[in-house]
Amino acid sequence: MILYFSGTGNSEYVAKRIAQRNGDEALNLFDKIRKIDHSELHSEMPWVVVAPTYAWQLPHVVRDWLMGTELTGERRIYFVLTCGTSISGAGLYTRKIASAKGMEYKGTAPVVMPENYIAVFKTPEQEEAMQIVDRAEEKIDRIADAIKSGEYLEELGGGRLQSMIVNKAFYKFIISDKKFVTTEACTSCGQCVRVCPVENIYLEGPEGEPRHPVWSGRCIHCMACINRCPFQAIEYGNASENRVRYRCPKTV
Ligand SMILES: Cc1cc2nc3c(=O)[nH]c(=O)nc-3n(C[C@H](O)[C@H](O)[C@H](O)COP(=O)(O)O)c2cc1C
Ligand code: SF4
Ligand code: SF4
Repeated sequence: MILYFSGTGNSEYVAKRIAQRNGDEALNLFDKIRKIDHSELHSEMPWVVVAPTYAWQLPHVVRDWLMGTELTGERRIYFVLTCGTSISGAGLYTRKIASAKGMEYKGTAPVVMPENYIAVFKTPEQEEAMQIVDRAEEKIDRIADAIKSGEYLEELGGGRLQSMIVNKAFYKFIISDKKFVTTEACTSCGQCVRVCPVENIYLEGPEGEPRHPVWSGRCIHCMACINRCPFQAIEYGNASENRVRYRCPKTV
């Protein structure tokens, strides 16, 4: 079974492509994470966790969900991390998760996809994004084939410091929702509330007037709200001004 988490569609696309090629099932962890649902899951096919890279590691929200959920049946577990440039030493940590769960670690493969971290980096225009996804497809299919034939996934070494020290600093100092603001373009549609995987947003406003999003301080910086607002009505301080809102162009 393929378990995926995705803020802006890259990991969803990769998970579904692997599932389709291997005749496997892709399960979106969005509801499970949102509802803190740790009910047991069972699979007769190897477990494959597909997620974005956050500060050179598996997102902690996915790690914590995995650690709290019993996976029965097949004992092999693969990790596929989508990223803008590199997953660095993320494999050192996914290996630990597998070991803590008593599962057989089968490697962590990076897939370079378009950058979605609009709060920090420039996001690609649609055409450039499409080219990056096109280039990734051969790699995704190779990963799927390796999983199907039971091979260990290729893993690049190194990056221990980034994945350890920078990741710690990232969670301590960088992740914050204090800079999110809405502009006059907000229509109170509620899409940002619906796409937040940790129920961090609610709409608020005076009686009889349009309500607007409020962020509650539990943000994991997935960038779903800002990128998926249909009216581009969310900004992250000045950083996101004039940056393209990103959503994987091939995710349906
Ligand atoms: C909070 C955050 C941290 C990120 N950290 C990294 C990183 O360390 N290395 C990297 O190459 N890309 C990084 N990215 C880019 C994403 O991993 C990449 O765009 C990913 O494919 C997005 O997947 P999604 O569309 O499934 O959410 C980061 C993105 C976010 C939002
Ligand atoms: S998704 Fe955008 S327009 Fe809709 S409520 Fe949120 S900020 Fe406003
Ligand atoms: S509030 Fe934070 S966690 Fe929720 S969608 Fe926005 S960026 Fe993601």
